[in-house]
Amino acid sequence: MKKEKVLELLKQMTLEEKIYQLVQLDGSLYSEKAAVTGPKAKLGMSDDVICNMGSIYNVFGAEKLKKIQDEHLKNNRNKIPLLVCADIIYGYQTVLPIPLAFGGAWNTKLVKEGIEMVAKEAAVTGIHGVFSPMVDLVRDPRWGRVMESTGEDSYLNSIYAKIEVEGFQGNLDNEHVASCVKHFAAYGAPEGGREYNTVDMSERQLRQEYLPAYKAAVDAGCKMVMTSFNTVDGIPASGNEWLMRKLLRDEWGFKGVTVSDYAAIKELVYHGIAEDDFMAAKLGIEAGVDFDMKTSVYSNNLKELVEKNEIDVKLIDEAVLRILNLKNDLGLFENPYRGASKSLENEVIGSEEHKKIALKLAEESIVLLKNDNSVLPLQKDKKIALIGPYADETSLVGLWAFFADKANIKTLKATMEDKIGENLLYSQGCDILSDLSMIEGFGFLSSKGLEKRDFEKDLEEALKVADDAEVIVLALGEHTLQSGEAGSRTELSLDKMQLKLLEELSKLNKPIVCVMFNGRPLVIDNILDKVDGLVEAWFPGTQGAVALANILFGEVNPSGKLTMSFPRNIGQIPVHYNEFKTGRPLIGSGHVGRFVSKYIDSSNEPRYEFGYGLSYTDFEYDEIKLSSTILKSNECIKASVLVKNVGQVKGKEVVQLYIQDVIGSVVRPVKELKGFEKIELEPNESKEVEFIISEKELKFFGKDMNFAAEKGEFKVFIGASSKNVKESSFKYLG
Ligand code: NOJ
Repeated sequence: MKKEKVLELLKQMTLEEKIYQLVQLDGSLYSEKAAVTGPKAKLGMSDDVICNMGSIYNVFGAEKLKKIQDEHLKNNRNKIPLLVCADIIYGYQTVLPIPLAFGGAWNTKLVKEGIEMVAKEAAVTGIHGVFSPMVDLVRDPRWGRVMESTGEDSYLNSIYAKIEVEGFQGNLDNEHVASCVKHFAAYGAPEGGREYNTVDMSERQLRQEYLPAYKAAVDAGCKMVMTSFNTVDGIPASGNEWLMRKLLRDEWGFKGVTVSDYAAIKELVYHGIAEDDFMAAKLGIEAGVDFDMKTSVYSNNLKELVEKNEIDVKLIDEAVLRILNLKNDLGLFENPYRGASKSLENEVIGSEEHKKIALKLAEESIVLLKNDNSVLPLQKDKKIALIGPYADETSLVGLWAFFADKANIKTLKATMEDKIGENLLYSQGCDILSDLSMIEGFGFLSSKGLEKRDFEKDLEEALKVADDAEVIVLALGEHTLQSGEAGSRTELSLDKMQLKLLEELSKLNKPIVCVMFNGRPLVIDNILDKVDGLVEAWFPGTQGAVALANILFGEVNPSGKLTMSFPRNIGQIPVHYNEFKTGRPLIGSGHVGRFVSKYIDSSNEPRYEFGYGLSYTDFEYDEIKLSSTILKSNECIKASVLVKNVGQVKGKEVVQLYIQDVIGSVVRPVKELKGFEKIELEPNESKEVEFIISEKELKFFGKDMNFAAEKGEFKVFIGASSKNVKESSFKYLG
């Protein structure tokens, strides 16, 4: 439809019709047969609202959505189709590894392919827009939603934000969907890691570290932005005019649609910045939040707000126009069903091609954390005891993949059996959780979690099985419901039954390889001395177990590297590689002994740092070569390093570039990631990896809040992790 037509449409809508366009409701409103039932009365929604509402979310299936759309259009005077959104984050039925895992692949091409696959599965089922990517910067593993993020670094998150938006949206044809970046802003920094808690930080830190990834998504053209639940400088995002209007729209030029997170406008009342729904609606619309997700706050109050001259009707017109424009950009006025197709659903969803993509990404996301005495890869002719609650488990997709095709997920037991048949011995060992109360009330549970097993019996059997084997592979981890939304924890250790199982098995003095399935960095110091090998599988997705077996038996060489630090203990949190310099650093301080920045009972260093991950081969780094030690504002210098595979097998390595601004007008981080390249080398092969450094890489928000580079010395680090680096330096002359 031409732009002018959209305006004409807006002009002839009644005020009520416009207001109802701003309503976005949960798809549970519809019965299986696509009739409107559900929580209408509970929400205080009249039929009028339902017939004119703008959007629904989390309803799936081409046939059902076509019926819903038909029914809607029949009752809608203006023939404005519904926008159908969904929480398809990292997979519909074919599920990728969780973002915290796929971030660790450091492979932008592969991640983009993965996201394109996700978009395609969403599109054929009739979804128009997805609430993804989640690009919140995360540094506190107590927070359950770290699993949805690509980690602790704003440069890396920004790169992923861009390619994910591009992957979802493509050219917005029927194989792609509109992308809604979330949660704007700084949702990843709740105090104490407690879900929905206050976020409070300086504007400098917000701009420097937390905002860049959202900005990258906006610059990549994402069509929607979702508010966060938290406060930003004392004002919840959904009523924060500075954030949602001044920054997002005026400063960044975002022209798309904003969506409140689930009931977040109503929550302005609970936050105590609105007296009632009436005032919450006012704050929301004034802040520029277009869709009211889940509630009747807009639909019940905006009309009265206009009539009482509390708000300018212009605010409603603007919001509606943005929504109509989005529907128009998606081609919904011409084809309200868009990509929805029963036959394509059958053909595309879960196809072999899609599984291959999920497999490749899983293989590159898995991180080898420890490999003493080359316990890995496993030898196929040895008897292996596979033990643990994740050994024969299909819940490998993490919390945000409700529609994963679980029936077709192979367990680790099955994939290892495929490789070695009878040489694999198996025993369950224990439940995932000893205390189910912490995951109560989520509405659904894995059936495994619900079984109360007899631990003593399990343990006895596990020990017997282990006795007959030469190597033990122990599959441990968190319950799916321990991470994800509302999955904050104060304890980050494995469950006590799992620890006991490991302890008893370790007494057999056999090599133990532990494979961990989890949605966050865990505190693992209490298991490290008992395991020879440690593999971080995360929640690796529908093909995760296939990927794991390939890695365990050395058919694939692990190449994932952490994008979030593993703390040694809870007290260290937040611990991240790019911390600021202090006046009393551990090394090089003017003070000695006690009076430097440290803990008296723990190292400052994380257990495993950002960028860390082992391989079955070894890589040697030469010294850094700089094309010049002087950089001028309109020039660039090249920083290169020769990397050699000095081991026995082919492998992939993530070569990482970090920079430190030695003197700044404000305190600067000890290191900041500014580039990376994933390379593959045959044994004995070398490659020169080159990075370009220009003024752009040196910019930051200085004393006057200008985003600029400051003259002076810069250190350059290149290496295999944020800690394991070579060093050089140059001067920036401006
Ligand atoms: C709340 C979550 O915070 C958000 O990520 C999600 O997209 C919405 N619910 C919709 O389900």
